[in-house]
Amino acid sequence: LFMSSRFSYEDCKATADWLMAQTDVRPTVGIVCGSGLGGLADMLKDQVAFNYKDIPNFPQSTVHGHAGRLVFGTLRGRPCVCMQGRFHLYEGYPIQKITLPIRIFKLLGVETVMLTNAAGGLNQDFKVGDIMIIKDHLNMPGFAGNNPLSGPNDERFGVRFPCMSDAYDRELQQLAMDVGQELGYGDFLKEGVYCVLGGPSFETIAECRMLHKLGADAVGMSTVHEVIIARHCGMKVFALSLITNQAVTDYDSEEKANHEEVLQTGKQRAEQLERLVSTMVTKIEHN
Ligand code: 6GU
Repeated sequence: LFMSSRFSYEDCKATADWLMAQTDVRPTVGIVCGSGLGGLADMLKDQVAFNYKDIPNFPQSTVHGHAGRLVFGTLRGRPCVCMQGRFHLYEGYPIQKITLPIRIFKLLGVETVMLTNAAGGLNQDFKVGDIMIIKDHLNMPGFAGNNPLSGPNDERFGVRFPCMSDAYDRELQQLAMDVGQELGYGDFLKEGVYCVLGGPSFETIAECRMLHKLGADAVGMSTVHEVIIARHCGMKVFALSLITNQAVTDYDSEEKANHEEVLQTGKQRAEQLERLVSTMVTKIEHN
């Protein structure tokens, strides 16, 4: 019938209960690692890790560079759960399945969700290697009716029409700025609007120009669906983009992204991004 009824509250509860029977870790922070940014999960101590294929009701990763493991542990003493590899619309999953892990986070007791992704830069002031604190989003698939909350609403998760004007927690954005300054990341720590597209094809030049005019600073293929589901069920959200390449907006541009350099910058910055998130985790207070 409805896609969403295949991923019900009861399904999420069964999976959360199954996980809690296998580990004593009771995470208050849930982390979703983007492409090439899974190193954060390796920082967890006293790990209890599950391959996605072994978790009841869980989707499986098909993307190269996404490990496909759910890792429980402590990050500098704080109990966390970390998705090492996420799910995307372009893999062909129903959108409700992509976001199922976020609802499982909620039922595990998670209060704050932190997400990372790799993105293309549209803001001309951004450089490859910049880390963008996401302050807002453009949900392009949502404009076309592809929203993870489409279908019957289960009030046990949240209201029918959730507010999104406060999606990205302001205090966590400020904390990221403060921690970033402390770590000496001021030069490459930016903030901006993230635009999600369905992918998997990258944008044309005309599409990049359009998105930039619409107010997008970076473009990617993830995160927004997870944010909507997290906000619906009342978790706080913080999200970061690593700008891995500059989206092309100029027909005359001779500039060809140097893939080697992009990868190298990405690799270096990934560690700094992971340090930023892990330091933030030690400073988040939960009741
Ligand atoms: Cl340029 N576009 C999209 N959609 N996703 C990306 C990207 C660009 N760079 C990294 N991820």
